[in-house]
Order: sequence, then C-alpha cells, then structure tokens
Amino acid sequence: MTTVERSLPRLLQTPPSPSSKRAPRGRRGRSNGELYGWIFMRASGALLVVLIFGHLFINLMTGDGIHGVDFAFVGGKWADPFWQWWDLVMLWLAIAHGTNGMRTVINDYTSRAGTRLAFKGALYLLAFIIVALGTLVIFTFDPCPPGVAADLLPAICTA
Ligand code: HEM
Repeated sequence: MTTVERSLPRLLQTPPSPSSKRAPRGRRGRSNGELYGWIFMRASGALLVVLIFGHLFINLMTGDGIHGVDFAFVGGKWADPFWQWWDLVMLWLAIAHGTNGMRTVINDYTSRAGTRLAFKGALYLLAFIIVALGTLVIFTFDPCPPGVAADLLPAICTA
C-alpha cells in the first residue's frame, strides 16, 4: 500500500473541525453568512459554465480555432467592450468563487487560529492581486501603443 493509499481514508472523511462550530457562543446561529456563501457557490458555478464554455467556444471552435489565437486575436477581442466585460465578469466571478471555495477548505482543515489567519491572509492577498492586475490589463491593453518604434509593433498596427 502506497503512502497516498494509506492517507486516503483520512482525507476523504468528514473534515475534523468545521470552524463554524468554533464561533464565539454569542454569535452561533445568528448569521446567514455561510448560507449565502453556499448559494453564491451554486449561482456563480452556473454562470461560470456559460462564461467559460462561451469563451472556449469562441476562441477554439470559430474561425481558425486554436491556430487563430495570437496577439492580434486578443487585441481584436479587447477592442470590443462586449468581450472586455465578458472577460472581466469571468475573471471576477472565477476568483470570487475560487476564493470562497478555498476559504471553506481552510476553515474545514485548519485547527489553529494563527494557521487559519495566515492561509486566509495569503488567499485574500493573491485574489486581490489577480483581480487588480487582470482588471487593469483588460481595460488598459493597447496593441499599438503610440510612440513605439514600428519594428517593435505587431503587423496589425502598421497594416
Ligand atoms: C464551470 C465552472 C464551475 C462550476 C460549475 C463550479 C461549481 C462549484 C460548486 C457547485 C461548488 C460547491 C461544492 C460544494 O459545496 O460541495 C464548487 C466549489 C469550489 N470551486 Fe468551483 N465551479 C466552477 C469553476 C471553478 C473555478 C474556475 C475555480 C477556481 C478559480 C473553482 C474553485 C472551487 C473551489 C476551490 C471550491 C471549493 C471546493 C470544496 O469545497 O471542496 N471552481 N464549485
């Protein structure tokens, strides 16, 4: 039996100590936060199916498929506000969904308050950086920035 096989029963069993049980006495049962989080996971999951499969369909099944995906293709897509907003909503929802899912996993599998705080701090920091950088790129991307030497620009800029 390998190490992975030996640890499987432990990994698959119900998480040992959901942190909701540790909420201070006065706050137990008073908040619907976890319920809303549960509903959000399902609602965002349903929306992500549409956004992600729409994205894959347009990028891979239309035109030249994967061979047509290059710098000019991305530049062309982000010249259209429709695709800017599609990609923005997909990015925000995926990161909010993934971050909330990981928050649940951290709550379920960490028992020390300090460990939980460190993992969640790293998680929220990463989520913020990804959302901030992604949003900035989607709205500031310019395939033909002014003042740049022509030999450094892609062919679409000089055509
Ligand atoms: C087609 C798109 C997706 C659908 C339909 C979907 C659906 C779901 C659902 C329904 C849950 C809740 C599971 C539960 O409570 O038992 C979940 C959990 C989760 N999802 Fe997604 N998801 C999608 C995309 C993503 C993406 C893009 C990410 C990462 C950025 C992600 C990360 C997670 C994580 C970390 C969890 C928590 C896992 C756990 O509780 O064990 N999901 N997803």
